[in-house]
This record gives sequence, structure tokens and C-alpha cells, in this order.
Amino acid sequence: MKLPKELLRLAEERIAPYDTEGLVIGAGNENGEIMIVGEAPGEKEAVEGKPFIGRAGKELDKQLDYLGLTRNDVYITSAVRSRPYKWVKTTKKGTGGKRKANRKPNQKEILAHAPILDYQIEQMKPRWIIALGSVAYERLTGRKDKMTEIVGKPIETPIKKLKDQTGSAYTYTDEKFTVIPLYHPAAVFYNPVIKEDIYTALDQLKGHLMK
Ligand code: URA
Repeated sequence: MKLPKELLRLAEERIAPYDTEGLVIGAGNENGEIMIVGEAPGEKEAVEGKPFIGRAGKELDKQLDYLGLTRNDVYITSAVRSRPYKWVKTTKKGTGGKRKANRKPNQKEILAHAPILDYQIEQMKPRWIIALGSVAYERLTGRKDKMTEIVGKPIETPIKKLKDQTGSAYTYTDEKFTVIPLYHPAAVFYNPVIKEDIYTALDQLKGHLMK
């Protein structure tokens, strides 16, 4: 999706104070019915400017395949479009003793990049929005429900958006969207026992998408 130059400049300016790098706009079918919202790019994504091309991306592809979808059927974006990092110590030669590690985006970073996601939702008006993980789910709905209780279940809800593109106060869209929360694909690496729950949620989602 092409973003207006002015919006890109604004997003760059808003994210500048934070430890993030790169900019991944999103990819896929912006004329389709399904938008997938992740958390933030990781290292590989930030370098190549493409969403979900690392380990979590392979898992996402498996899940899309299970749903009978490809990346050409969906538009993939996320709450924050730059890679949030933190410095950690390393003993690896030639690094100066430190390296950047991925971390979750914080609320300030989510707010900084809210104009991009707001714009993408408004342009695409997706019939379905799949929220990958609680960061995306909270950003979209403003709700702090427990993922274990909500995965795979669609909710009809207004979407959180900025009151004014250059400001910091949120409001909600007038129209309702259908948001379906799923576990973030990387969750299976940290917690392999949820694999069964993931596929139960995907089965539920499949049923809804076919309606
Ligand atoms: N996690 C995300 O949320 N987005 C990516 O692009 C990669 C990992």
C-alpha cells in the first residue's frame, strides 16, 4: 500500500525519539478482505523492509496454509512499523561487546506509529482484521482481554484510532469491524504446549471466514 509522503514523514518524526530501526510498510493484497496485524518487525524484517520473513513468518505461512490462504489473499501490517530493539551484552568477536535484541513495542511507540495503521485500516476497510497477539489486539480494540479466553472468537468492535493524526489522544471509529484475535505466531516458540490451542483457534477462524 502506498502511503502519502506526508504520512511517512510524520511517522518517522514521531518514532525518532525511540530505540527502533527500519520501516516496514506492510505487504499483500490491500484490495482483499483480510488484514493481519502483528506487533512490530524483527531484525530480518527491518533490514529487508518486508513483514514476517523470519522464523515467526514461517510459522505464519504454515497457519495461513492451514486456513487455505496465501499471502496474496491478505494484507499484513502491524501496530509498530519499525523494529524496537534493546542493547544486550555479547561475547561475539567484532561486536564491541554488545548487540541489538528484539523487544516488544511500548505504548509510546505504538502511539508514534498509530497514524500508519489508522490510515491503512481506513483505506482498506477490511471485512476481517486478524490480531496476532495481545499487543495488536489491544491496539485495535482498546481491550485488555486474556488471549486464552478470546483466541479464534470474532468480536464486532469499533477500532481505536487517533483523534487527530498529529496528536496523542485516541478515539474510536464510528463503524464497527470484525476483529479475530489469534496467538502471535512466535508464541509457539516460547510456549510449544499452546500448539493445540492455536489449531483449535484456526479451526474456529476457518469456520468464520467461510461464512
Ligand atoms: N512479528 C511481527 O509482529 N511482525 C513481523 O513482521 C515480524 C515478527
